Amino acid sequence: MIETGLRNKVVIVTGAAAGIGRTTAMLFAREQCRIAAWDVNPENADLERQLRDARGESLFRRVDVSNPDDVEQGVREVVEKWSRVDVLINNAGITRDSQLVKWKDGNVAGTMTDQAFEDVLAVNLRGVFHCARAVAPHMIRNGGGVILNASSVVGLYGNFGQTNYAATKAGVIAFTRTWSRELGRHQIRVNAVAPGFIGTDLIRTIPEKVMQGMVDHTPLGRMGTAEDVAHAYVWLASDAAAFITGAVLSVDGGLVLGT
Ligand code: NAI
Repeated sequence: MIETGLRNKVVIVTGAAAGIGRTTAMLFAREQCRIAAWDVNPENADLERQLRDARGESLFRRVDVSNPDDVEQGVREVVEKWSRVDVLINNAGITRDSQLVKWKDGNVAGTMTDQAFEDVLAVNLRGVFHCARAVAPHMIRNGGGVILNASSVVGLYGNFGQTNYAATKAGVIAFTRTWSRELGRHQIRVNAVAPGFIGTDLIRTIPEKVMQGMVDHTPLGRMGTAEDVAHAYVWLASDAAAFITGAVLSVDGGLVLGT
């Protein structure tokens, strides 16, 4: 039996106030890690208390990953407190869905706006870049680390109404493969997780009928849970995955979009 090697590790989780990020922070806390839980939404005294109950050491901070100054400041604080960063979970993500061009009665009824495109890029792509760039030097100095990125099935297959989101999730896979090449010599492993449809706030706007269609196309016959994804992060961060880098792990119950 391989030890997880996670005890006392310093773990940053972005987008930790809700959904997959929140559950991931809790699971790492149960592995007795030190957790820096970041979110743009500051309303989370509750999470800090829960993390403290699980482990004893944690901090919750308002960090907007789309703002490089916020991220640099957040990393500085973590390093001042715990002297290093061992694991970064780039989880924060948003959607602003609409069709590239909506066509109705022979006319353009709408398009994806520049704002919707930029907003999603700022968080899902630039946010991941800001966090990895800020953390990597500390991992290099410390002799290694693990960076895990939230991609999506949508980044692999595309999805109706998600030009912006799909591009960022494919971009995250390109980051993962590039950084695994650049940072491997420093013993930094970089992997991505590609969840299918997971029951969180992020997908609350998807109509019931569409969701049922997704479940019907999922061999395991159900929607995923935040725990399903969080367990994948914990495993990929652990010593059990010591020889895995540059990988994209699907956590989707076998879902194949559009089949
Ligand atoms: P969620 O909407 O439940 O939670 C996302 C969290 O990120 C929220 O707490 C939000 O405040 C935070 N956040 C948003 N913008 C931020 C920013 N600029 N800086 C810091 N924090 C920010 O979402 P969920 O479902 O937990 O998704 C987590 C990740 O997993 C996202 O990257 C998402 O794209 C990805 N994912 C989710 C899937 C799903 O079906 N729920 C499927 C595939 C991927």
